[in-house]
Amino acid sequence: MCYLQGEMMKIAVLISGRGSNLQATLEAESDNKLGNAEVFLVISSNPSATGLEFAKNYNKYAIVLDPKDYADRTEYDKKLKSIMLDNDIELIVLAGFMKVLSASFVDYFKNKIINIHPSLLPAFSGLNVHERVLEYGVKYSGCSVHFVNEEIDGGPIIAQKIVEVLDEDTPDSLAARILVEEHILLPEVIKKISENKIIVNERRVKVV
Ligand code: GRF
Repeated sequence: MCYLQGEMMKIAVLISGRGSNLQATLEAESDNKLGNAEVFLVISSNPSATGLEFAKNYNKYAIVLDPKDYADRTEYDKKLKSIMLDNDIELIVLAGFMKVLSASFVDYFKNKIINIHPSLLPAFSGLNVHERVLEYGVKYSGCSVHFVNEEIDGGPIIAQKIVEVLDEDTPDSLAARILVEEHILLPEVIKKISENKIIVNERRVKVV
């Protein structure tokens, strides 16, 4: 990955629902806090995702790719790949995208797909994170932004933020406090990538 000064890095944000991380990214862009990155395109796997409203509010081109319209994951990912290539997308940001991408898609875009996950990976990957965090009794949780590889939530970790788990927490209260940090972390990472400040060496990712 190498972006020249002044050259914009076109990103696609993929969502499936609420879209608050998309909103935080769009806000950062309009506040000039997204470095050389430009949200070029929003893709939703869900036609009724409320996050689509944010794309509209910020005049971003949005495409709905409903899995129901595709025979299988291979067909879905083929379409997704052609959209990425046709639009010269340089970074794919999964922000609450609830679809697992095929190994071939992920391989093709190696180190060009990032995901935000609401735990301190590698702990609590997968779904129902906050319920499991509370059940297990850990004292700290948080959020992680990582590169996407073929293993769910398993790619190299770029950055994390820690959030203390409180005795009185419910899954919802913990999720809400972590979400505040997600909204800071994701745009920060996108900015760093767009400024060539992320160096990947196997699993070790250095932010310079
Ligand atoms: C976030 O908690 C994110 O970490 C997880 O899915 C949730 C998406 O929320 N991957 P939103 O759609 O960005 O509001």
